[in-house]
Amino acid sequence: MDFKARYGPWAIVAGASEGTGRSFARGIAARGVGVLMLANGGPLEEEAASVARDFGVEAIAAKVDLARPEAIDQIIAVVGTREVGLYVSNAGTDYFGKEFLDGELAGWLDMIAVNTSTMVKAAHHFGGLMRGRGRGGLLMVNSGACYMGGGRLAIYTACKGFQLNFCQSLWTELRPHGVDVLSLVLGKTDTPNYHALQRKKGMPSSTNIASPDDVAEQGLESLALGPVQHAGLADDDKGMFTWSGAEMRERVLAMDAAIAQGFGKA
Ligand SMILES: NC(=O)c1ccc[n+]([C@@H]2O[C@H](COP(=O)([O-])OP(=O)(O)OC[C@H]3O[C@@H](n4cnc5c(N)ncnc54)[C@H](OP(=O)(O)O)[C@@H]3O)[C@@H](O)[C@H]2O)c1
Repeated sequence: MDFKARYGPWAIVAGASEGTGRSFARGIAARGVGVLMLANGGPLEEEAASVARDFGVEAIAAKVDLARPEAIDQIIAVVGTREVGLYVSNAGTDYFGKEFLDGELAGWLDMIAVNTSTMVKAAHHFGGLMRGRGRGGLLMVNSGACYMGGGRLAIYTACKGFQLNFCQSLWTELRPHGVDVLSLVLGKTDTPNYHALQRKKGMPSSTNIASPDDVAEQGLESLALGPVQHAGLADDDKGMFTWSGAEMRERVLAMDAAIAQGFGKA
């Protein structure tokens, strides 16, 4: 199946007004799939108009605060009767760069909501419809921070670790039903929020930084590989990580088999 047949006719990109989300929306539209572009502000209307103009597909802008509990209901209302074959959970960076106790609790809870509860609600709703149709994709944007905690990243690493394990499990459950699940692990990437956070921390931006278009392209091209791919690395290249995407796939399958056998216990 080509991309549109597998993941069309509509895709949702949550956090689509700039950075990698903008690139995902454009990459999806370039493959002939209509895009519902969500953000909480920013140049969303202009971006949707430019996607429609540049690629000749329908692009709809919808203002939704993904940190709000009602976000999923708003998204479902915007979708209406459209058939969504791809959900990209993109928004979810760290905006604070602070130690846990020095940050406002409300801000941490918003970060948790965007990265976990809204992502889970969307996966449950749209993943369920995809499973019923026997095709589709869930692509969650992750970070190398998913593998290890560290100072000034307590909530961010916790959220991204949650997403990693969630996607690995969901991949095993949905693959027999033709639905692809991918957690795309990014390193430093040239997005407005990356530079804003560096400024907040009083640090210079790195020059060794990925392009958001390249990252999105890799995600869309490797969606069927799942459950984890590392931006800038081939499936069998572990780079600085413990395992490559291919090794992780084997380990997740081994874990799944062990769970199915009750971990070998009588
Ligand atoms: N950039 C990096 O170096 C880097 C590195 C590793 C991983 N990542 C991951 O890449 C993804 C994208 O990161 P990013 O740097 O582009 O910043 P981001 O803030 O996670 O994503 C930006 C997009 O999300 C939207 N957004 C943010 N909060 C929202 C909310 N509450 N409700 C609705 N939309 C919201 C923004 O629009 P509005 O602000 O207008 O709402 C914008 O369209 C994240 O998951 C991040 O963890 C990034």
